[in-house]
Amino acid sequence: MQVEPGDTDKSRYPKHIAIIMDGNGRWAQKRHLPRIMGHPAGVKAVKRVVTFCAEQDIQVLTLFAFSSENWRRPKEEVSKLMGLFMLTMQAEVKHLYKNNIRLRFIGERAVFSEKIQQKMAESERLTENNTGLTLVIAANYGGHRDMTLAMQDIAQQVKDGIVAPDEIDETMIAGALSIPDLTDPDLFIRSGGEQRISNFLLWQLAYTEFHFTEKLWPDFDARIMQDAIDDFLSRERRFGRTSEQVQKMSS
Ligand code: IPE
Ligand code: IPE
Ligand code: MG
Repeated sequence: MQVEPGDTDKSRYPKHIAIIMDGNGRWAQKRHLPRIMGHPAGVKAVKRVVTFCAEQDIQVLTLFAFSSENWRRPKEEVSKLMGLFMLTMQAEVKHLYKNNIRLRFIGERAVFSEKIQQKMAESERLTENNTGLTLVIAANYGGHRDMTLAMQDIAQQVKDGIVAPDEIDETMIAGALSIPDLTDPDLFIRSGGEQRISNFLLWQLAYTEFHFTEKLWPDFDARIMQDAIDDFLSRERRFGRTSEQVQKMSS
């Protein structure tokens, strides 16, 4: 497929971009700083990428901020991350609101402090009627846990006689997971050089295009995002069909 860098045919742009923001610790270590110093630098990259997506009329941006496995990190790092999460919400939610961005969170909230949970709920309420970019922050999120909770929910409905086992289909499962109302990601990006999903959106990434880059998250900016989009535009999404069929459909 012919793709010009910075192709302006926005109709072919990904509607939903999901990102694993990785490499904060290594970015700091490269500068002989303690690894936790990478996280505030990572927040600056988040702001650049959110601005880029809003300007490019991307519908949904999902960012993996803290996984259900990240609690295994040193106590001091976890506590710095929680503090930064709170500070960032306090500093940024008004800007998001003013820029017509809708903020949502996925992941289990009960483990967060009362203050953080309140701020999350308040931020979602404030921005819920915004119609621009939907920004989804995955915090204490794990794909396995998401699926487990969905299964518990459906099993309860079967037990209560609301659903018969053979009525369980893909639509019902997708509906019981996080963000059931949003389209699945078209483009997945992982910074920091690792090529794995790390328990991110397992169900929803079934047909997503993957873009891995060595760039560390705090270095992310509009140009790197545009490179990922250009890579996406060069792919042929076949969804199981042959290339000939796909070409016929688009001509
Ligand atoms: C990603 O960067 C941020 C979080 C997981 C919170 P890392 O902290 O994982 O950075 P590296 O991978 O150690 O460099
Ligand atoms: C994945 O990054 C989670 C987030 C970016 C929030 P990790 O750095 O925790 O992933 P692994 O441990 O290298 O797989
Ligand atoms: Mg990492």
